[in-house]
Amino acid sequence: MPSLESIKKAPRADGFASILAIGRANPENFIEQSAYPDLFFRITKSEHLVDLKNKFKRICDKTAIRKRHFVWTEEFITANPCFSTFMEKSLNIRQEVAIREIPKLGAEAAAKAIQEWGQPKSRITHLIFCTRSGMGLPGPDYQLTQILGLNPNVERVMIYQQGCFAGGTTLRLAKCLAESHKGARVLVVCAETSTVLFRAPSMEHQEDLVTQALFADGASALIVGADPDETADEHASFVIVSTSQVLLPESAGAIGGHVSEGGFLPMIHRDVPQIVSKNIGKCLEEAFTPLGIMDWNSIFWVPHPGGRAILDQLDERVGLKPEKLFISRHVLKEYGNMSSASVHFALDEMRKWSAKEGTTGEGLEWGVLFGFGPGVTVDTVVLRSVPI
Ligand code: CAA
Repeated sequence: MPSLESIKKAPRADGFASILAIGRANPENFIEQSAYPDLFFRITKSEHLVDLKNKFKRICDKTAIRKRHFVWTEEFITANPCFSTFMEKSLNIRQEVAIREIPKLGAEAAAKAIQEWGQPKSRITHLIFCTRSGMGLPGPDYQLTQILGLNPNVERVMIYQQGCFAGGTTLRLAKCLAESHKGARVLVVCAETSTVLFRAPSMEHQEDLVTQALFADGASALIVGADPDETADEHASFVIVSTSQVLLPESAGAIGGHVSEGGFLPMIHRDVPQIVSKNIGKCLEEAFTPLGIMDWNSIFWVPHPGGRAILDQLDERVGLKPEKLFISRHVLKEYGNMSSASVHFALDEMRKWSAKEGTTGEGLEWGVLFGFGPGVTVDTVVLRSVPI
């Protein structure tokens, strides 16, 4: 019989957790933002609200989004009139869509990550699945295990209802798991659909127009593990150096939301960009002082593409060079805000855009990934690029 002491000393990984592969997926159906106000007001039978539609057009124009992908189609919305009345009872149909689509979208992204990783899927030891879109028992973590044929003894963690900061949270958890079990390979999946929050416009609730103009559908998947096995052609694209999470001061109620019979109703205060940008300096100092870094233009940036105004105010407050947030702006433009998955898309774009720069982080060594979301919560992940 092994002693308790010997079990406790089960080997930990030697090195830091790294990102070994990234995959992503979007539904085929996409709508250009310039065409969205007409479509949105038509399919929700709200065209008589002319002033509201003009306001929605103004908001859409200012999002800096070019297109968004959705699992829902025009036919689906018109076939389900509950979407055409603000806060009409519609939880069942929203749940049906999320329960059907979220595992599928997640599995598509995960299959791509596993393909890039190039290792047998039997080497996956842990699964973290994250969504704020729908709920089920067993959840999408179980469905994904079945779809991909993962080992039944994969250790699963299902994370519901975290919101947009969870792109960082999932990396924080994956790092813990990967570093505390030698040989662990953690599959991280974030999958989201805005079907849970799509609803007709309302004169009385104009703040919901911002939600309707921003959110979109997509899934990301990453393989995280320490001590890559180069002999088996396993390679890191970023090292996860450190992670932290903080609740910003005086931010209570600025981002939140509730699941209700009328769907998920988010609350996004118009001061969110200001609250985030005001506090970002402190997050940076706490993360980078141990590394002796104080020049925020000397690192590569991967903030959650939550909204144009957030990125604008980050630029301004931190004094960033104009190109610094280019990658996040690009993801926002091409995909909208896909909540937890968005920042992983940005990480994937970062390494791809950096192909000719010498490292996976625009030729720079150190970088930061930020998740922003309800609380207001900020997840900070310090990354080190690898040479290309
Ligand atoms: N609530 C209600 N109305 C708003 C609003 C808000 N939060 N923000 C802007 N508006 C209205 C304005 O009153 C204005 O209306 P009028 O044209 O009738 O005057 C209209 O929208 C356009 O506003 P501005 O001219 O001031 O334009 P802007 O430059 O501020 O752009 C925006 C609008 C694109 C929405 C921009 O403010 C933005 O990007 N905001 C950030 C959005 C945000 O907070 N994203 C985070 C989402 S939360 C998240 O990611 C995490 C999660 O977990 C959910």
